[in-house]
Amino acid sequence: MTDSSRRRALLEARYGQQATPENIIWNEQIETLLAHRSVRAFTDEPLPEGALETVVAAAQSASTSSNLHQWSLVSVSDPETKAELARLTHGAKFAGFDFVAQAPSVLLWVADMSRSHEISVEKGGDPVVTDYLDSFLMSSVDAALAAQNGLVAAEAIGLGGVYLGSLRNHAKELADLIGLPAYAYVVFGMAIGTPDPHRPSAVHPRPAQDVVLHRERYRTRPTKEWIEDYEIAFKDFRTEYGLRDKTWSHSVVMGMGLEYMDGRENLRRTLEQRGYLLR
Ligand SMILES: Cc1cc2nc3c(=O)[nH]c(=O)nc-3n(C[C@H](O)[C@H](O)[C@H](O)COP(=O)(O)O)c2cc1C
Repeated sequence: MTDSSRRRALLEARYGQQATPENIIWNEQIETLLAHRSVRAFTDEPLPEGALETVVAAAQSASTSSNLHQWSLVSVSDPETKAELARLTHGAKFAGFDFVAQAPSVLLWVADMSRSHEISVEKGGDPVVTDYLDSFLMSSVDAALAAQNGLVAAEAIGLGGVYLGSLRNHAKELADLIGLPAYAYVVFGMAIGTPDPHRPSAVHPRPAQDVVLHRERYRTRPTKEWIEDYEIAFKDFRTEYGLRDKTWSHSVVMGMGLEYMDGRENLRRTLEQRGYLLR
């Protein structure tokens, strides 16, 4: 495949038949980003030597609010702990097989104010900032930026992975399982490993750029102006990969309903118990 046909294929996979930008400034890094797909089926191979350290170096290279480094990573490869994580995420519910237990490694990305809290107390400061909603957001954003850099690095070295927001369904049990200190919680997990070539995943289409990109000012658009085109891309994707027929709007309705919470409605209480007062 030539560079230009590979790049064209990436754009078509990302946007389907919707309008695609013609002026992408391509290079290898951009190709890796545009080729992202969540991976939920792995071979039995452990992570290659140096992979974890590469992911962490990339994660630590993300920007971090006020240079406070308020995130941590707990890397789990012990089968018993992974089985417990699979139970907490209901991993099997998403893929029909337990990809969380099967992944060679599950990374738990932690929003972690514990180090700054301790340093502040030890040095005679008054860490009141931890009581505010903004510090919850700040540490969660730090963890998310680190995680995304880590996932991109994993993909760049031939690994694949998927975020596990479902780990927040049982935030308290999870914190106990891995012995988290106060002022820390797991924002999400991430199953990573070598993608199983016999069960490949595909690039999921996104809405056209003009749905998410606003120039100069936010422009409120009626949903009906764009949703049909995205529904077509969504349907084409599901048909091509033999997935059950359903609309994207249906997924939105399901994702916005109470049933989706599945334990996450307790998150505020767990966070408060862990020292996040969310004022
Ligand atoms: C914060 C976050 C949490 C997620 N949690 C889960 C999860 O618990 N289980 C799962 O199977 N996928 C999870 N995903 C993956 C999304 O379902 C996936 O990114 C989305 O369907 C788009 O597919 P793609 O990543 O292949 O482009 C999560 C993604 C993000 C960003």
